[in-house]
Amino acid sequence: MISRETIELVLSRTDIMTLIGSYVSLKRSGSNVKGLCPFHSEKTPSFTVYPQDNSFYCFGCGVGGDQISFIMKMEHLDYPDAVKFLAKRAGITIIEDEDKRYNAGPRIEKDRIYKMNVEAARFFHRCLYEDNPDARAALSYFTNERGLSQATIKHFGLGYAPNSFDRFTKYMLGLGYTHDELVAGFLCGRSEKGNYYDAFRNRVMFPIIDVSDNVIAFGGRVMDDSKPKYKNSSDTPVFKKLRNLFALNFAKQTCKESMILCEGYMDVIALHAAGFTNAVATLGTAITSEQARVMSRYTERVIICYDSDEAGQKAAQRAMKMLEEVGLEVNVISIPGAKDPDEYIKKYGVKSFAEVIGSAKSKFDYNLGRILSKYNLEIPQDKINALNELANMIAGVYSVAERDVYIRVVSKKLGVSYDSLKADVDRIVARNLAAYKRGEAKRMEQESIGYTDKVNPDYVKEPAIAKNEERVLGLMLLFPEHRAKVFREGLLTEDDFFTALNKKIFRFLQTAYEKQDDRLVSMSEEFTPEEMGRISKMKIQRMELSSNGEEVLLECIANLKSSVADKHCSASPLDRLNDLIKRKRETDDN
Ligand code: GTP
Ligand code: MN
Repeated sequence: MISRETIELVLSRTDIMTLIGSYVSLKRSGSNVKGLCPFHSEKTPSFTVYPQDNSFYCFGCGVGGDQISFIMKMEHLDYPDAVKFLAKRAGITIIEDEDKRYNAGPRIEKDRIYKMNVEAARFFHRCLYEDNPDARAALSYFTNERGLSQATIKHFGLGYAPNSFDRFTKYMLGLGYTHDELVAGFLCGRSEKGNYYDAFRNRVMFPIIDVSDNVIAFGGRVMDDSKPKYKNSSDTPVFKKLRNLFALNFAKQTCKESMILCEGYMDVIALHAAGFTNAVATLGTAITSEQARVMSRYTERVIICYDSDEAGQKAAQRAMKMLEEVGLEVNVISIPGAKDPDEYIKKYGVKSFAEVIGSAKSKFDYNLGRILSKYNLEIPQDKINALNELANMIAGVYSVAERDVYIRVVSKKLGVSYDSLKADVDRIVARNLAAYKRGEAKRMEQESIGYTDKVNPDYVKEPAIAKNEERVLGLMLLFPEHRAKVFREGLLTEDDFFTALNKKIFRFLQTAYEKQDDRLVSMSEEFTPEEMGRISKMKIQRMELSSNGEEVLLECIANLKSSVADKHCSASPLDRLNDLIKRKRETDDN
């Protein structure tokens, strides 16, 4: 438990503009500050910082909150770690409460997992050099079958997980690690009968190391054609598969100008061994926008070098899009006559691969080549199809100037007039734009009636009531005097709230009031960045009021009271009947 005082100190010493500005380039716009949202892909800024309120909110994806929420989301930390991160940045020492009784279940310490992983990597590496047939086969797999040198094996810390049910687990228990820690770190599995077994057995091992040189996970490959070929760690407290990249710990030193992105561990290892130390790979999944953002922090240009099969080329298309969205320059290479870069280097040598890298094509050239190779331009119908595909491809380019350059190139290459191709492209652009707008309008409509409300699922059931709740809460969040009035005079109780999230917010405000916490310091501890986003939205919608909106508040409270009363009636038919009878009597009496 970190004390409220410490959290308050951390927040007050962390200027939200400077903090967010170190991740996002921000521009002033009126009294607010805007930038491109780091949490979703966008081309026009909807990510807004409110320095006066120490908060941020993205109108596109709905994430928001304070400095701590931002760091939780940005650095993938839980609340205490995000506070520690900011404390360190602000030069504040945190003294943690010794008492951990409040933590349910065994608490897994990240530091322990890091240390455990290092021990595991050392164990696997040693096993590679043991004097027994299994180990010799594993070593021979690396050296003879994959052609790796001893230096490369050592550099990447490659290893071998023995062919045993629990030799590794027993060894780690001997070092003092617990079953819970081993399971949490994905090194050990637990059978239905409750027995613990080694997660990696009879596999050659690839440790995965992050940019701070921590061993965070492992990949293990079989040495024959059995399935599954690779087994990779699932996410653990120290590992997020969709965020990390294999070999970025090495590549980060040489990739400033360009980075090579491959599909497999073995491709990366072969490339590094051949001197291309700027190669990285995703961890057995398609590239994510998060990984693209990570890459954009280290390099300017990415050369995609995927397998030459159809799956690889499809994946390359997707990767191009992801990488361009974060503003990276993207080149693509195809590797003729080999299935992947690893095989290419073995077959044709390092020099030849360097030439291929040197001839890396821009996305446009790559796509142009890909499309032209499918068609025979001598045949009219083929030529029409090619033109069609090319026009569609050009229409997908965002910049008008860039589109113009491509239209010139293609019209020349295929011998058609510039004007006719431009007309085709413009028509497709207009069509795409209309489709996009229709989709957008639909999305906004759904959002306003709440179809897609993941943050407060109850919203859809009673949108009118939920909206009213949000008005009340928005005003209470903004003005401490409203909170004081509502709680002092008991104007509302949590039972007056219908939706679960809003009920929770009300309860939070009540507790804060009782603890005399006017600044609502620990809000980001109780609510996720998505929920915090919703809270920001409630505040922002009320910020435009010129007064503190007391009349609006009282009116909304009255509405809430009566709508909840209605709800109670409809909940019980008998109540409703009684209510009707009573009302009838009253009117009769008048
Ligand atoms: P080699 O066949 O040894 O050359 O492997 P590679 O490293 O070239 O990998 P490949 O191109 O076959 O696959 C690319 C990446 O996908 C691998 O490095 C793994 O991370 C992942 N991968 C491949 N097969 C599997 C599998 O069966 N299961 C899982 N989880 N991941 C896999
Ligand atoms: Mn391969």
